Amino acid sequence: MAIGVGKGGRLFNLHTKDSTYQMYADEYGILLHTYYGRRIDEENLSDLIFHADVGFSGNPPEAVGDRTYSLDCLPQELPSDGVGDYRESCVALLHKDGSMAADYRFEGYELMDSSYKVAGMPSLYDNEEEKGETLVITMREKVSHVVVRLLYGVFEQENVITRSVQVENYGENEIVLSKCLSCCLDFQYGEYDLITFVGRHTLERSPERNRVGRTKLEIGSLRGTSSHQYNPAMILCAPEATEDFGDCYGLCLVYSSNFTACAQKDQRGQTRVLMGIQPNHFSFLLKKGEVFDAPQVILSYSDSGLAKLSHQYHKILREHMCRGKYQCAKRPVLLNNWEATYFDFNKEKLISLGEQAAELGIEMLVLDDGWFGKRDDDNSGLGDWFANEKKLGSSLKELGDRIHALGMKFGLWFEPEMISENSNLYRTHPDWAFMIPGREPNRARNQLVLDMSRDDVREYLLERMTDILEHAPIDYVKWDVNRSLCDIYSHKYAGNRNGEVYHRFILGVYDLLEHLLERFPDILLEGCSGGGGRFDAAMLYYSPQIWCSDNTDAVNRLYIQYGTSFFYPISSMGAHVSAVPNHQTARITSFRTRGHVALSGSFGYELDLNKITDEEREMVKEQIAEFHKYHSLIHEGTYYRITPPGGRFCAWEFVDEKKDHALQTLVMTSAEGNPLPVHTIVKGLSPDKDYHCSANNQIHSGRTWMGAGLTLSAIPGEYESVLIEWNAMGKK
Ligand code: DGJ
Repeated sequence: MAIGVGKGGRLFNLHTKDSTYQMYADEYGILLHTYYGRRIDEENLSDLIFHADVGFSGNPPEAVGDRTYSLDCLPQELPSDGVGDYRESCVALLHKDGSMAADYRFEGYELMDSSYKVAGMPSLYDNEEEKGETLVITMREKVSHVVVRLLYGVFEQENVITRSVQVENYGENEIVLSKCLSCCLDFQYGEYDLITFVGRHTLERSPERNRVGRTKLEIGSLRGTSSHQYNPAMILCAPEATEDFGDCYGLCLVYSSNFTACAQKDQRGQTRVLMGIQPNHFSFLLKKGEVFDAPQVILSYSDSGLAKLSHQYHKILREHMCRGKYQCAKRPVLLNNWEATYFDFNKEKLISLGEQAAELGIEMLVLDDGWFGKRDDDNSGLGDWFANEKKLGSSLKELGDRIHALGMKFGLWFEPEMISENSNLYRTHPDWAFMIPGREPNRARNQLVLDMSRDDVREYLLERMTDILEHAPIDYVKWDVNRSLCDIYSHKYAGNRNGEVYHRFILGVYDLLEHLLERFPDILLEGCSGGGGRFDAAMLYYSPQIWCSDNTDAVNRLYIQYGTSFFYPISSMGAHVSAVPNHQTARITSFRTRGHVALSGSFGYELDLNKITDEEREMVKEQIAEFHKYHSLIHEGTYYRITPPGGRFCAWEFVDEKKDHALQTLVMTSAEGNPLPVHTIVKGLSPDKDYHCSANNQIHSGRTWMGAGLTLSAIPGEYESVLIEWNAMGKK
């Protein structure tokens, strides 16, 4: 059993292969967090808590007379709110009488021999290799009869513990849930750094590392998507932690909307870390008997650095979050027409692109924005999901058939959640768009947002998408979102329930995705939000690949893909070779380098094949051959960050499960006169096997390669790249 219960049902140990998470419900029913770290025995560690009479930290009524017992100082699983813990709380309530106290006490527990599900939202699921276990701890609010169930999932072999929260109103009175975070982690001792992944449109997920102190470190989103700006995943680690050394704790939220995540030391130097739904612009009315489910947080611990932590996340997300035919299947190499044509295309142009692509070995043509309604630029047409046959010069079916006849698959772009004011849909249903009565709405990309919390909106979208996908041979859908939300107001939840709408919006998105995939289970879905604005664990449940960024510049991509790799599997990162000068940065990089960078993702192209040189055409063929050769190593192998971007070169590596084969990509990012040698390190080999290295034809043991590394015999030029292979002798 991964979950141990002792001390009369009050001591809980959650064990994974290498970690233990411990809680203890004390005599007053406070659920103490006593330990999270490397695996230990099942001994009650509440004696690690130091009790002292702390000035201005009061005592709960039960402990009167004991001035050393204060909620303000104890490490807890579900901190109370407004009753003496002055730190950040998790679950806040507004009672009918206007009071806001929430005092949660332990009531009992339950065990389940499988994983739990979160209603209406994605969560990690059991597979044939590993079934999770679940502990549900029931906490009851002292006065209001609100019950909070703390859900803990354990995937023992994966070193993963999950948390979620369920709130149920057992009382007679309505109650307003004004905050519902999914996870609180209290660390009594230690110094920590917090690594967050921050950025902006076209430059997503750069790691930012800060020391946790008494000044609160907080990230989050209020954009209705998880956002380009702050990714809903972060790492708390020892200040000395590196790729290969030190304690690291990951927190990854399975949610695609507004979130918060923070870390702060309290007055006594204890660190509290929280994650969950963003409390700003959130409130949820719970009538008698109603339940609210908070999204899941995936926790993982590594005692030996960031690389191991990433491996654990890559594995759990690939094997227990991604689903469907393409969870493991090889994804087709695609050509997307966006940067090739933008809105300017017709059947002839697309077929010509398809023909060129087929000849070179590309396996799928994706028709991006502009095929529907009246849409020759981004000012109109969203919502009118009817093919514009006049523009195309054919039906989608005819076009799809022609592409299929070339031996290729056919993909199509949608942006279901959006509406243009210049559209028939808006003219018919203006109330379907978010707009606050009496206020002029803010436009972004000149578009408005549909109220996805409404059943009629979702029914319309499902009907339209089903019709399109049923009547044309479509193998892939790119699901895009091109603005942040604001002006939130739903006619359905008018009055005092508008605080529910951001959350109900994303539940509506999940619901539509689920229905679509139920109807078309074999479609490959690629998530997208102006590139990587909704790159999160929840979206991986529906789309095993997500367009990583609208920035296709190979050098900027080094940063973006590097940052993304801390949590998300390589197979989830959509990455394409595009034209130069690059459309976002105007940088010129070689075709080879663009290929090498894109190969370390879900590979494809995004350029006009009619405009490339004969030499480049040959390189496309070579790159596709490389894709087939290295696909399983890259998508299923273990990934190592070797040298981060920002230095003279950036390198990363993949090693197969048997450690017979390793592939390192090295990209030079600067050039210098009288250059110093380029020496790179090697990771993940088996020390006792001998390996041949393709870069210098030398054979050494894995131990030697990993100890001494490799010096390149020639120095690549600026923005040039090399692929280096290590093959175990006799295994080439
Ligand atoms: C943003 C996406 O990230 C692009 O790839 C493209 O699909 C455009 N939207 C189309 O509007």
